[in-house]
Amino acid sequence: MRISVLFGGESEERDVSIASAAEIIPALRSRGYEVLAVDTAHGALDTAEEQRVLRGGVGIEPPSGAHLQAMRQGGSSLRLPTAVGSTDLVFIALHGGSGEDGRLQALLDLAGIPFTGSGSLGSSLAMDKDISKTLLRAGGVLTPDWVIAPFPSDDASFARAVGDRLGYPVVVKPTAQGSTVGLSIARDRESLFPAIAKARSFGPVMVERFVRGRELTVGILDGQPLAVGEIVIPPDEAFSYEDKYQAGAVREQFPAEVPAAVAEAARSAAVAAHELLRLDGYSRSDFRLDDDGRLWIIETNSLPGMTATSLLPKSAAAFGIDYAELCDRICRLALR
Ligand code: DAL
Ligand code: MG
Repeated sequence: MRISVLFGGESEERDVSIASAAEIIPALRSRGYEVLAVDTAHGALDTAEEQRVLRGGVGIEPPSGAHLQAMRQGGSSLRLPTAVGSTDLVFIALHGGSGEDGRLQALLDLAGIPFTGSGSLGSSLAMDKDISKTLLRAGGVLTPDWVIAPFPSDDASFARAVGDRLGYPVVVKPTAQGSTVGLSIARDRESLFPAIAKARSFGPVMVERFVRGRELTVGILDGQPLAVGEIVIPPDEAFSYEDKYQAGAVREQFPAEVPAAVAEAARSAAVAAHELLRLDGYSRSDFRLDDDGRLWIIETNSLPGMTATSLLPKSAAAFGIDYAELCDRICRLALR
């Protein structure tokens, strides 16, 4: 069986994609698959190119918006490299942008090429946090209240309305970015507008009630929950880009040391989210556990990170599924 591992892409999470591919490719080879490393920009890579490109790692600084700006100015956009047509399956190792939001999935679907993970509809639903939270709330999954920032949004009545409805602090973030790119916590009215301006360079912006508490995560594989994990950060902070990709930046505890009822609630909410958002194969949902023991879903990722520091592989490992087995299962699910 020949598998194309498609990585790179034009989103702000390009580095994360390369770091995911750098783990997925050797893992699939270790399971006996013939693997073609396919960069969205340069097509299939030979061994030397592959080694050079995949050595990159994830930069410490979160992205600046340069990729998006280049795209808006008519620069790059994702095309389907012809090389993928010669393999039996495409393993999507992309994060963000058209690799995650359903456009690539639609293209592969129409081309009749099997691919891993969710289809076009589920990918689109999960990518937009405004839409996905609306569906989750309608489905009875608790998610912090939020509003969409109007454009332009620098008027005092909006800052007051945010205070009245959500209460400060609030989380300000682009509706359709991953890895905390463009996200900040606005602790008062004065910091709301700068936070919105920062998020705005990455697309439409939402303002969400900040849930003080603990950060939990649960992976899903084949519709079943894996282990619940905790990212041990101060209760007043968010899990940052740096925390996510610098090895050892934060302590993660798998399985999470939470009461059994909380772990069970997190597992069933992650399953519900996977179903409500019409996801396939695998996903990862992220939660906050507030001081009163209530569990709030923050988001569900249709293409969770697969880097060396990423959480889905840890959620699977704590459940007894090692990294190579996880990749193998993801492939087998796609061909079922
Ligand atoms: N968006 C990143 C890759 C994640 O969800 O893990
Ligand atoms: Mg995400």
